[in-house]
Amino acid sequence: MAEHFERGDAAQEPGQEPARPKAAQSEAARPEASQTQDKELSRRGFLKTTAVAAAGAALGSRLAQPAHAQATAGAAGGQVGAAVNQNGPVPQGPRLRVGLIGCGGRGTGAVGDCLSGAPNMEVWALGDLFGERVNGTRGQLMKDHKEKVNITDARMFTGFDCYQKVIGSGVDLVILATPPGFRPIHLRAAVDAGKHVFMEKPVAVDATGVRSVIESGEIAARKNLGIVSGTQRRHQASYIETIKRIHRQQDGTDSRVGENIVGTLGRSDPGGWIRGKNTYRHEGGNNPYVQEHTNLVNSIRRGQPLNEARRIAESTLTAIMGRMSAYTGKQVSWEQAMNSKENLMPANLDLKMSLPTPPIAIPGKTPLI
Ligand SMILES: NC(=O)c1ccc[n+]([C@@H]2O[C@H](COP(=O)([O-])OP(=O)(O)OC[C@H]3O[C@@H](n4cnc5c(N)ncnc54)[C@H](O)[C@@H]3O)[C@@H](O)[C@H]2O)c1
Repeated sequence: MAEHFERGDAAQEPGQEPARPKAAQSEAARPEASQTQDKELSRRGFLKTTAVAAAGAALGSRLAQPAHAQATAGAAGGQVGAAVNQNGPVPQGPRLRVGLIGCGGRGTGAVGDCLSGAPNMEVWALGDLFGERVNGTRGQLMKDHKEKVNITDARMFTGFDCYQKVIGSGVDLVILATPPGFRPIHLRAAVDAGKHVFMEKPVAVDATGVRSVIESGEIAARKNLGIVSGTQRRHQASYIETIKRIHRQQDGTDSRVGENIVGTLGRSDPGGWIRGKNTYRHEGGNNPYVQEHTNLVNSIRRGQPLNEARRIAESTLTAIMGRMSAYTGKQVSWEQAMNSKENLMPANLDLKMSLPTPPIAIPGKTPLI
């Protein structure tokens, strides 16, 4: 069943996570300009433009790319293109078809956020291990976004190979929201097939997967494809602005950065306020769960696709590194974590197979792999 999230309050009090948004947001919430621009662009023209940019990148010719693509050439290699960020109007562009892989609570919510986050989007295909999940998601989307749902029965896929079918169904953009062990495999298939990607975090469960995600990000950059991950804080205006101010005004007290920041002159929840000598409260704010999709589609339509693959892969590895250290009882360096040979994903998964129970980790005895 789909989760229903409440819209976040940008300036929440200490210790509170930003509330997750409702799956739906009204059309009216989008900037008017975004609904009227670039109507003349055809889907075919858009695909052609993307192909030309990709071909240019493949030939290594900066001249073959549009000027705006050159401006964000730093996106290659996994950097995030800096030119497209918060709150710019999203060009109308040709209709983008969205496919979802993993129809759980977050996947269903993410499709809703994507449909709300940019104009001229439609959800085209769904995939999950289980039929009841795809049915549930389609039902929920029909309730919340009826006019943007174009999912025929033939484009509802189940089983472990559903990702290949969703990717091959004619979509432009896929949302990856299965459990994270599958993310590297699904991401590689999507990028190989030339699809833009929104993927939920975390993006792997082991270093083998992390390396694969980084490599997929590099392939995506060469193909001029966008990858944004569900790191909503990085798309939340109040958070970004508060952190900026903390960096600015509390020089010398910035060694502790977390969700609760304590400095000599005050303290802050970077979700939107600072208390102390230089009190600040962010006014207004945005819905970061929708904004991340807005930013992705905006970047695609402007020909400067964001690419967050390396950043989210490294963030995921940080958590994996903590697990490695806790399980083994050893100090683990970044290099050891990044080069770890651990691979927790079984090959050739099948719903009928029985998997061995992994041994319980014993710090001091469990080896570092
Ligand atoms: N960005 C965020 O703030 C945020 C919030 C919640 C969850 N998440 C992440 O989103 C992902 C999904 O979370 P969720 O709460 O929706 O989980 P969930 O268990 O509700 O949904 C996962 C769905 O994926 C399906 N699935 C599992 N393996 C699959 C496969 N190989 N192929 C196709 N479908 C498969 C399951 O049947 C299920 O319907 C997780 O990685 C989670 O960590 C991110």
